[in-house]
Amino acid sequence: MAKTYNIGIIPGDGVGPECIREGLKVVQEASRKFGFKLGLVNYDFGAERYLKTGEVLPDSALDELKKLDAIYLGAVGDPRVKQGILEQGLLLKLRFGLDQYVNLRPIILYPGVWTPVKDKGPEEINFVVVRENTEGLYAGIGGFLRKGTQDEVAVQEMVVTHKGIERVVKFAFDYCKKRNKKKKLTLVDKANVLTYACDLWQRVFYELGGKYPDIEKDHAYVDACCMWFVKNPEWFDVIVTDNLFGDIITDLGAMIQGGMGVAAGGNINPDGVSMFEPIHGSAPKYTGQNKINPIATIAAGAMMLEILGEDKASQAVDDAIKKVLASGKIKDMGAGKMGMTTSEAGDLIASKV
Ligand code: IPM
Ligand code: MG
Repeated sequence: MAKTYNIGIIPGDGVGPECIREGLKVVQEASRKFGFKLGLVNYDFGAERYLKTGEVLPDSALDELKKLDAIYLGAVGDPRVKQGILEQGLLLKLRFGLDQYVNLRPIILYPGVWTPVKDKGPEEINFVVVRENTEGLYAGIGGFLRKGTQDEVAVQEMVVTHKGIERVVKFAFDYCKKRNKKKKLTLVDKANVLTYACDLWQRVFYELGGKYPDIEKDHAYVDACCMWFVKNPEWFDVIVTDNLFGDIITDLGAMIQGGMGVAAGGNINPDGVSMFEPIHGSAPKYTGQNKINPIATIAAGAMMLEILGEDKASQAVDDAIKKVLASGKIKDMGAGKMGMTTSEAGDLIASKV
């Protein structure tokens, strides 16, 4: 009997639903070709539900999601909802609640895609960022004192734990080994200023690194790292970094790989349920216009298939994206500039699986 994977679908806000629609089109095509089934469970979490009911993500839903094989997420964020409510109450609650401690973000320039970085191509722009996904400044520890007065104090704490660093660094070393390219892992931090948190990161990194003699251990400060992304992206193979640094450098990374239209990410719990999403947000101004580029979401779908263990299907989706991009049929990665609609782009990629 064909294997069935139960996938939670959270289309979310803005362009999320139209991106997920195309992602599912392609992933389902792959499931037919490679002989497995997808049991889809739909969830309406997001702005609409919040505005109607005041509920973002109930704890009971988290328990339910823990029983699934994976989650496929569109986008989160809506201008009608105060900033932070959906981001923290939905996206971060999912990442934290499901202990998805790795945020895997490949920065890979596909042939046929334009990069704003002069004289660099697919040979040079090909690396992966492993972002810690449950700690750091995202931990939400802090508060106000004398709020609203001239004497106001706001504190936001950066929380790093030995266990939290160790598990993500171990994942990064193993990933680098499996990737088998330059065999170089770069720790990106700000140890020249954040002398406590980053000191712990460095000690764990080099201590664990001893167990990986064949992997080169490299280091860069986060500000310098931004410079190298543009100047010498070919220096990187795998990067491991803190939550906030990873957030920031992967937006820059998305730009050098051709834009938000193509950048995908996976929130991974190697022992639990993982969640896959485009790195871009909900892009409210394009909602429902069938103009947004669905490739980032489709590429996130390919990552989902890989983590589910359907390597061939994942490769087929990735190859289909590459074929379509190399053909030059999609003229530009930006919304409204593709020279075709969102659904046509999805159809085209699905037809190449
Ligand atoms: C991302 C996003 C999120 C983050 C926001 C929406 C909370 O920017 O996935 O990179 O900061 O992690
Ligand atoms: Mg971000």
